[in-house]
Amino acid sequence: MKFPFTSEQLTKLHARIETPALIVWQPNLEKNIADMQALANRFDAALRPHTKTHKSPLFAQWQLNAGAKGITVAKLSEAEVMAAHGIDDIFIANQITQVQKLKRLRKLHERIHLTVGLDNPRQIDLLRPFFKDASTPLNVRIEIDSGLKRCGVTVGNDLVELAKAVARQPFLRLDGIFTHAGHVYAARSAAQVEAIGKQEGALMAGAKTLLQKNGLRIATVSVGSTPTVPFSVRNPAVNEVRPGNYVFYDAMQIALHAAAPEQVSLFVLSTVVAHPVAGRLVIDAGSKALHTDGAGVTGHFGLPVNIKGKVVRLSEEHGVLELPEESTLRLGDPVLLVPNHACAVANLFDVYYLINEALQIKTVPVEARGKSQ
Ligand SMILES: Cc1ncc(COP(=O)(O)O)c(C=O)c1O
Repeated sequence: MKFPFTSEQLTKLHARIETPALIVWQPNLEKNIADMQALANRFDAALRPHTKTHKSPLFAQWQLNAGAKGITVAKLSEAEVMAAHGIDDIFIANQITQVQKLKRLRKLHERIHLTVGLDNPRQIDLLRPFFKDASTPLNVRIEIDSGLKRCGVTVGNDLVELAKAVARQPFLRLDGIFTHAGHVYAARSAAQVEAIGKQEGALMAGAKTLLQKNGLRIATVSVGSTPTVPFSVRNPAVNEVRPGNYVFYDAMQIALHAAAPEQVSLFVLSTVVAHPVAGRLVIDAGSKALHTDGAGVTGHFGLPVNIKGKVVRLSEEHGVLELPEESTLRLGDPVLLVPNHACAVANLFDVYYLINEALQIKTVPVEARGKSQ
């Protein structure tokens, strides 16, 4: 597998960056942002990228500059960070039910165009005391389960009753429906990914038709996970997509055929710290830098760039590299890795080292890192 940097370029970077470090290759980041925007445009869908992947207001702004309609976040505290940087159209694709958070939600609603997820009528009762006197109604999207079996109602009577209950509340505005086909990450072939993406689109089209037949106005039909978007976006009922991972891609996306290795923009830079016996090299990137996610999908914990081999074991501060033949790598040498799950890895670091074509380095804070409340 070939990745952006030559070994000479890597040595130059390694001389200037202490490891383990989070590296973003700007040309690929910009291309990934532009390519997803072009896909959404081609099918007349709005792009509302999920920014839990990068947790960076700067990168979110680049996505908006490229044409994204607004952003998605998973958490209220992520929304607060993004809003503090001037982003004013945010969908929290999640259910917020804790009273303390509802107070904060109301405050944020006063400042920006805010939309939240809902999948249970009891949530309406929880929202009421905080929003009943708001000057504008809170936008709500009903979450539909398209197979992940996490949040979301199934398409049927419960969905219709819930949508009617939302539409009856003067302090709420029913904006539409959303789903996340996250079960795609258990797919084992490109054909399965395509089938899940098509089902996601078809299910949401059916849900929209059902709700419209019951007299409900559904403005937004929002879908998205990075692997399914290329297929679900083709359904004419779908008018918004929310991929997140596509800005970076990672080894899981490569394993699912959702990305080619050449598209990856996020890497972990590490250093060889031990070579205790022949055939075993140890790097300074362990689970606190590479995260343990995704090994069930990829069969490893990270893919070294331009070196044959893989990270086969992690402890907190160490990664054990298995190489097919005795390597020329020596103590102190750099090893650049593609992590399994970019979103989980970004949340482990304070800063990105953003590298441009001229190999200039700019540090970008992972501003919403750790914002999980
Ligand atoms: C509700 C929701 N929407 C969109 C996404 C984006 O999916 P992906 O990271 O596969 O692009 C996620 C990811 O977890 C999600 O939970």
